[in-house]
Order: sequence, then structure tokens, then C-alpha cells
Amino acid sequence: MVLTGHGTMENAVQALRIGAYDFVVKPILDLAQLRISVARSLEKRRLQKLNHRYRRHLETMVGEQTERIIEQNRRLEGYALELETMSVSVISSLMTALEEKDGYTAGHSRRVTHYARAMAQELGLGPRLVWLVETAAALHDVGKLIVDVGFIKKKGPLSPEEWEIMRRHPVAADRFLAPFRFLDDVRPLIRRHHERLDGSGYPDGLGGPDLSLATQILAVADSYDAMTSRRSYRRTLKRGEAVTEMERVSGRHFKPEVIRALVAALDRLKAGSVME
Ligand SMILES: [Fe+2]
Ligand SMILES: [Fe+2]
Repeated sequence: MVLTGHGTMENAVQALRIGAYDFVVKPILDLAQLRISVARSLEKRRLQKLNHRYRRHLETMVGEQTERIIEQNRRLEGYALELETMSVSVISSLMTALEEKDGYTAGHSRRVTHYARAMAQELGLGPRLVWLVETAAALHDVGKLIVDVGFIKKKGPLSPEEWEIMRRHPVAADRFLAPFRFLDDVRPLIRRHHERLDGSGYPDGLGGPDLSLATQILAVADSYDAMTSRRSYRRTLKRGEAVTEMERVSGRHFKPEVIRALVAALDRLKAGSVME
């Protein structure tokens, strides 16, 4: 409230502009009117303060609620991640049990994961792609659940009928894992782990352009382990022999850079610098 002896229009405008509620010019002729003006000004000020406090209270409340929602979201994301990790572990255990039933493939998925991870690191893939490759490697043969263990243990080559069933395992895995939505990007790698660059693989006979680097890492790691581990139908290859064989089909079955990554990864693993 402005009380002044200079009651010009300019002063009055200026007073209101800077927030005065009233502009009273001296001399005061009506004291009762002044009292009313003062009372109104004080009331206005009181309401302003109340409004200000209420707004601050609201802001604090909104801030607290936002923090609570962020915290809840963080916790939910944590639960979802735990659930995903647990699902992969459960399917992996199923794989291990399946592989142990047949002494020849015991530890295959674990070793393929080990090689694939080392190769992905060798090729400088980012964390998301490394996770994709590792998870695909851990679960890649889950489709063999449809194959009778007797086939895998069988001495000598499979009959055409048995081979036909065996060739279905990538598709079976793709179908089996479909309900796990978080594996949507992993499934194509698994479905394509027996595909070859020249289109000679199975189940879809895809060629080079359809085979990503991540897919090829899995395919190379899988082939290498199949060659170097004990199989009922052929002798085990030594590391050098398997590498020579892989290099022979480089460019035809596998991308040369992936074969080079395998060789580098094997050297590194041998030197003991990469541990599981
Ligand atoms: Fe396979
Ligand atoms: Fe395999």
C-alpha cells in the first residue's frame, strides 16, 4: 500500500505496477476509508502467503510422488531382469541335463558359450550384442529336446529319417522359446546356427546377407566345439586340425573375419587371459 504526498497519475501507475494494492494520497481526509484499505491489503497479503505456501506444498508432494514412481519403476525393472536371468538359467539347466544324458555332448553349450563370448569380445561387440550371443549360445540346442538321445549316441551316421528329425532342432528351439518375449532378438540367432554363407545350411537354406555377425559367431563356435569334442560317429579333431578345417571353409560357410576372431580368441583362451 502506498501512502504519498505526491499523488500524480504517474506515481499511481508506478505503485500499482510494482505490486501495491492501493494508492492513498495525503492528506488523509477519511480515516475510516484508510482503515478499510489497510484491512483489505492485509487480507490480500494473507491470502497471497497462503496461496504461496499451498503451491510449495503441492510442488513438494508432486516431487515426492515422482520420486516414489521412479523408485517403483526401478524396482520393477530389477524384477523383470531377475525373471529373465532366471528363465535363461532354468532353460540352461534343462540343456545341461539333456547333454549329460548323452556323454558325448556333455558341456557342449557351456563350451560354445565360452568360445562365443571370447569371439564377440575379440570383434569388439557392445554389451547388448555380447549378451545376445552368450544367451543364444547357452540355449542354441534346446530344440534337441525333440531328438531321441539314442540318435545322438548312435555309432555311425544317422539314417535319412533320423537326420530329418535332427535337422528340425533349430526350428523346434525357435518355437519352444517364442513365449519368452525378452528372447525375441535371440531366437533368430538360434534358428540360424546351422545356416551357412553359401546357403548350404539348414533349416531355411539362408545365405550370406541374412546371416549377421552375431549369428555367425554362434555358428563358428558351435562348429568348432562339435569338431573338437568327442562324438560317437567320428574321431575328435585336435585344435590345429579343427582350425585348418574351419579356414578351409572360410568364406564359403563362415565369414572370414569370424574365423579370424575364433583363432585370436583360442590363442587368448590358451594364454589364460580369458576365463569363464
Ligand atoms: Fe545345433
Ligand atoms: Fe550345438
